[in-house]
Amino acid sequence: MDTKALKALQWKVFQNVAAAQLVPLMRIGDELGLFTQLADLGPSDNARFAKAAGIHERYSLEWLCAMCAAGYASYDSDKGQFFLSEEQEAVFAREDSTSLMIGAYDSVASLVMDEPKVRAAFKTGEAARFFKPVYKSNLVSRWLPKIPALTEKLSAGGSFADVGCGHGVSTMLIAEHFPSAEVYGFDFHGPSIEEAKRLAADAGLGERIHYDTRSAKDYTGSFDVIAFFDCLHDMGDPIGAAEHACRQLKEGGLLVLIEPFANDKLEDNFNIVGQMFYTASTMGCVPASMAQEVGLALGAQAGPAKLGMVLQQAGFSTVETVATTATNMVLCARK
Ligand SMILES: C[S@@+](CC[C@H](N)C(=O)[O-])C[C@H]1O[C@@H](n2cnc3c(N)ncnc32)[C@H](O)[C@@H]1O
Repeated sequence: MDTKALKALQWKVFQNVAAAQLVPLMRIGDELGLFTQLADLGPSDNARFAKAAGIHERYSLEWLCAMCAAGYASYDSDKGQFFLSEEQEAVFAREDSTSLMIGAYDSVASLVMDEPKVRAAFKTGEAARFFKPVYKSNLVSRWLPKIPALTEKLSAGGSFADVGCGHGVSTMLIAEHFPSAEVYGFDFHGPSIEEAKRLAADAGLGERIHYDTRSAKDYTGSFDVIAFFDCLHDMGDPIGAAEHACRQLKEGGLLVLIEPFANDKLEDNFNIVGQMFYTASTMGCVPASMAQEVGLALGAQAGPAKLGMVLQQAGFSTVETVATTATNMVLCARK
């Protein structure tokens, strides 16, 4: 045995376990509003913080220390005060921050809760709020401008369909950014569409966005742009969904895909981003796709080459990767 490799592996497990142990503490911090409370209070000793948050002092101290050890909160040892740095506040405490990442822990918690269902699916082959800030900071300011034809069409009052729109985070951003565009949102999950309608009404966009409970293969229209944001790989029949989109697009219309970032070769995804996405994919994306007809199960790490093949088989001639970040990639195809 290579002792050095053994030690490195053990250290890696240690790091991963320490990271996993944060999950319940982050959920508690989120649910009880502890990050926001600490940010609102500013530098405080534990007693003041516990009183303001309405929690037991002993638990509060342990929670604060765990957050400081993780680098998620800060401590001034001279004054004995805990506080959030500007960056910690942006990432954990402010719901309207474009850097907010605390929602990622919701997804991790639900992965753990789904474990028995997915364990059963491993045997039978059956099936069983992470990107919001990413969309807010990238979608209309960085990614869509990389597709000038899209900006041109939607600024001139063109029609846009957000397929698999979920709660409509991206749909609302598009409706706000392109005030004269006709905006549609489709998802086959009724409760998501109801929530999307409620959120749009709250944002004063109720009249602007037409939501409907539709699968990716049964909406109709004549669109300038059709988008699949973080959902094509979740669909049972992504080729059928893309073929259907091709038929609903006007001549010269555009199909835009946003997918989790992935390299084409399996081994090039064996890194921290791949670890996160393969885990989410095993627990969510693969079972979701396998529960539907065809059950192609592209997975969250399909990579641009495989996605390009799906679009080409669906009838799109040119497929281009127009933007990539550490976590996402944006592909565009023209009819
Ligand atoms: C990971 S969520 C992404 C939601 C949203 N596009 C976003 O980026 O926030 C995937 C969405 O695809 C939807 N979906 C999966 N398969 C579908 C299908 N065959 N037809 C329509 N929607 C589907 C799910 O209901 C879910 O809302």
